[in-house]
Amino acid sequence: MRFATELDASPGRGGYAEAREAGRILHECRERINRLINGEAPEHVIFTLNGSDSLNVAIKGLISPGTRDHAVTTWMAHNSVLRPLNALAERGDTEQTRIPCDPKTGLVDPQEIARAITPHTRLVAITHGSNVAGTLMPLREVGMICRERDVPFLVDAAQTAGHVPIDVQELNIDILCCPGHKGLMGPLGTGCLYIRPGMEDRVRTMREGGTGSLSESDIQPSNMPDKFEAGSHNAIGIAGLNAAVAWIFERGVDHIWEHEQEIMNHMLQRLDEDEMPGLRLIGPPDFQNRCGVFSIVIDGIEPNELSAILEDEYGLLTRAGFHCAPLAHRTFGTDRLGGTTRISFGAFNTETDVDALCDALQEICQEYAATSTSR
Ligand SMILES: Cc1ncc(COP(=O)(O)O)c(C=O)c1O
Repeated sequence: MRFATELDASPGRGGYAEAREAGRILHECRERINRLINGEAPEHVIFTLNGSDSLNVAIKGLISPGTRDHAVTTWMAHNSVLRPLNALAERGDTEQTRIPCDPKTGLVDPQEIARAITPHTRLVAITHGSNVAGTLMPLREVGMICRERDVPFLVDAAQTAGHVPIDVQELNIDILCCPGHKGLMGPLGTGCLYIRPGMEDRVRTMREGGTGSLSESDIQPSNMPDKFEAGSHNAIGIAGLNAAVAWIFERGVDHIWEHEQEIMNHMLQRLDEDEMPGLRLIGPPDFQNRCGVFSIVIDGIEPNELSAILEDEYGLLTRAGFHCAPLAHRTFGTDRLGGTTRISFGAFNTETDVDALCDALQEICQEYAATSTSR
């Protein structure tokens, strides 16, 4: 609100007070995000349009068509990793290995990643938390493998940034991508990308343009963050993101994660197959290796229909279908069912919300089981 009514100026362009204040807000946001992920330098936090944009900047900056550049990813990847890699492969001569994941848990075996790396591998891209099943991938092991082989390690933290503590230095993460509008709780149309100092030299720019710096030159600057921030920022969105990340610090990401784990635990205890006939939880069956994203199917009810019942009859908002992750659904065998219904929890949810959801699921399952036996 303050940005819209008092500032509304382009950071790094004019030298007047409003533009300087806008620049300060952008820098403050970079500092907060850098601190949140234990990054090495705030200028290495780059603002983007969304999670897909961050991933495109990183993937297309590391893999060049017309070379034999090779990328490794997994079947849990979102389309914002799969599609850029496929588009690059279509442009010619790049290669990729997509590692299948465990059909029960969604976990990848880090040793399979190690085996897939070749002398041409320029990228290993892993989703931290699956947006289908909530599986938390073994980042520590994969990070160690990548650092030993000097292969850039990219983590898609779309489902975990702001929910789960992430330490990029401890986990050997070279590039971390996330949207601003999910766990970071900023407005839509914001995103960010952290590139470890030193790694930026290996990432080519995907677009070039005005940066407000080195304006006397017609060559894109190589300093951070300007190298990857061509054009005017979504400054009002970033001001919103800054306020949201300040709230995360106030609450503490460790505290948010503890709270979400309590909710997850309660949800897992309440998902009772005897009380909920026909209901199946997809992904990790217990507390281990999971974040607060749950996919469910109920025998005989289409995912879209289940989401519609939950909204219309109980006021509960979920998302049905393939969740832009077709290979994840193939892994779990839910591609044949039209996907799943996905429930996700955040910092503001409570155990009462879980109870409301589970009571609704119990009622739906029991009603459906009774009508299908009487048919
Ligand atoms: C795991 C994962 N990666 C990437 C994205 C893409 O983020 P955005 O919608 O901001 O482009 C999403 C969005 O749902 C996601 O869940």
